[in-house]
Amino acid sequence: MSFISKRSSFVYNPILEEDYEAAKLAKRGIEVMKLNRGDPAYYFPTPKYIIDAYVEALREGKTYYSDSAGVRELREAVAGRYNRMYNVSASPENIIATAGISEGLAFINSALIENGDRAVIFKPYYVQYITNLMEYGGRPVFGIYDEKDEWNIHFDHIRGELKKIRRAGKINRVKYMILTNPNNPTGTVLRRKALEEIVDIANENDIVLVSDEIYDEIVYNGAHFTSIGQVAKGVSHIILHGASKVFDATGFRLGYMVFPEQDKKSMSIRDKILDYAQMRLSLNTPAEYALAEGIRNRKEHERAIKGMVSSIEKRVNFATDILERNDAVSVVRPKGAFYILPKLKMARLHFKDDKDFVNKVLEEEHIQIARGSGFGIQDHFRIVALAPERELEEAVGRIEALLTKYSR
Ligand SMILES: Cc1ncc(COP(=O)(O)O)c(C=O)c1O
Repeated sequence: MSFISKRSSFVYNPILEEDYEAAKLAKRGIEVMKLNRGDPAYYFPTPKYIIDAYVEALREGKTYYSDSAGVRELREAVAGRYNRMYNVSASPENIIATAGISEGLAFINSALIENGDRAVIFKPYYVQYITNLMEYGGRPVFGIYDEKDEWNIHFDHIRGELKKIRRAGKINRVKYMILTNPNNPTGTVLRRKALEEIVDIANENDIVLVSDEIYDEIVYNGAHFTSIGQVAKGVSHIILHGASKVFDATGFRLGYMVFPEQDKKSMSIRDKILDYAQMRLSLNTPAEYALAEGIRNRKEHERAIKGMVSSIEKRVNFATDILERNDAVSVVRPKGAFYILPKLKMARLHFKDDKDFVNKVLEEEHIQIARGSGFGIQDHFRIVALAPERELEEAVGRIEALLTKYSR
């Protein structure tokens, strides 16, 4: 019997799996370009007005435990944001701050999932959804984001999957359905019509909707973002958001959950999650004050987000253009977030699989990227398009050249 728990076997992050090899190269004095981690704060400094608010909170001695659900100022700011941006009337009582969305996901799974319960997760997925669900004894019902349809939801497929479960009398074991919009790793922004259809499906099957909207303001190439809060009126849903991407402060480790509906189910989840929040006492108090200011100061935020999104749009398009030159890959041009997920046309390439490709990119070109199979989709790779243009040009150009070198 292993000393380590069985449950922990699901805890594994394929995005960082080459870190050890990369560190070995670094020890030999070889610089590795890291295009594997979606950390905007590494490339775009966190806006000064947010940093100032953080320092001020420290100087004012706000270093004590905060309200477990988050300081009032933060929850009020979040409520204001949802009201203003999406006409969602959540009160501060219906907002719970968490140590990033990461903690929010753990709370949701621990609070809702009994052994064998199910959650609908669409492939390709954000890795943590799966590992976290499985860790708590849950099993996924896989839906599909269809690459042939610009990564839109494959509605017939998910309807079919849920029908099978309903027929088997087990639909009440499907606890929630999680969407990522805008999407990591595909870069898709879901259309309003798609969201309406998802809401119908959730409603028909009495499944709670969870919408991870962490990239909601990082939208470009003509796309328009709709929050689930705008279309899910009357249906139990939870919106996840936070400091990491839009406020460019990944290291603050702050997120929040919004419960816009007051139905019995939503409120019972909120109440249980408050218990979880109380169990871990507090969040990073000065960071909470800084994020509250980050949200409240709209003028500064507008300026910061506009600048960042315009740089991201250029970088994503620029890297996509380079990849499009190569016939051995195909790419759906992203419209949101900052990831590119090209498909490797394996029949034309001398690689065993996407892991083999990603390993060779590291070994031969000293560039770290992530394999698609880590997101539940074979024969793809994910590039984070946040590095400055010159660096990105160099890196993506070298990846493109490697594809040519291994072409049949
Ligand atoms: C879709 C998605 N959700 C959640 C997270 C993690 O968020 P946080 O930093 O708030 O824990 C990420 C990070 O990359 C993400 O891409």
